[in-house]
Amino acid sequence: MIGIIGAMEEEVVSLKEEMDVREIVEKAGMMFCKGTLCGKEVVVVRSGVGKVNAGICAQILVDLFQVDLLINTGIAGSLDARIDIGDMVISTDALQHDMDASVFGDPIGQIPRLDTFSFPADEALVRKAIRANEKANPDIHTFTGRIASGDQFISSKEVKDRIVENFHPLCVEMEGAAIAQAAYLNKVSYVIIRAISDKADNSACMDYPTFEKKAIAHSVRLMKELLLMI
Ligand code: ADE
Repeated sequence: MIGIIGAMEEEVVSLKEEMDVREIVEKAGMMFCKGTLCGKEVVVVRSGVGKVNAGICAQILVDLFQVDLLINTGIAGSLDARIDIGDMVISTDALQHDMDASVFGDPIGQIPRLDTFSFPADEALVRKAIRANEKANPDIHTFTGRIASGDQFISSKEVKDRIVENFHPLCVEMEGAAIAQAAYLNKVSYVIIRAISDKADNSACMDYPTFEKKAIAHSVRLMKELLLMI
């Protein structure tokens, strides 16, 4: 069973429209839509924004729906000058840029007493996502690398620069690493697929609403192609 999580309704609505929904289960205020999409058994759900919502959502998918694969789709802010609005980012690994127990000697981003700094995505799944994107969005640039998540919409150059300096990620969003952590703890696979909606700097608030729709369309196309390959 594949769990597909988007933070916002806009990010999952087209997937829900195209799937054959057999059952809708409400839990923790989230609607879990179970059925088939592109011939695969899936549960599509809107988690809500932020790491706590995303972590709860992922755990429910594992416990209630026996999901063994978690895919997080949506949009993100670019942290790399090469990565433009509309481009795609596929995760190699994810971490939480707002985790800071450095006062105890841990590096910033390290979750204390956990045996990993970042959460690696499933390598085979990453390769499939890259291939799926080449098919689904041939004209769109795709980058593969680290994704940083935190409970902040990044819209200032100073904060952006600090995240880049600390972690060297390709993009920033607000859920992926929580889903990655849930996947790690439950020993299930995951990948994050994000389309860039803004540059996570002082222009982010203006760009975001303009490019949100286009960015979502790219990730939905990729997602459907990926499901055919899994
Ligand atoms: N999602 C899309 N753009 C973002 C940004 N700039 N910061 C955090 N999450 C985002």
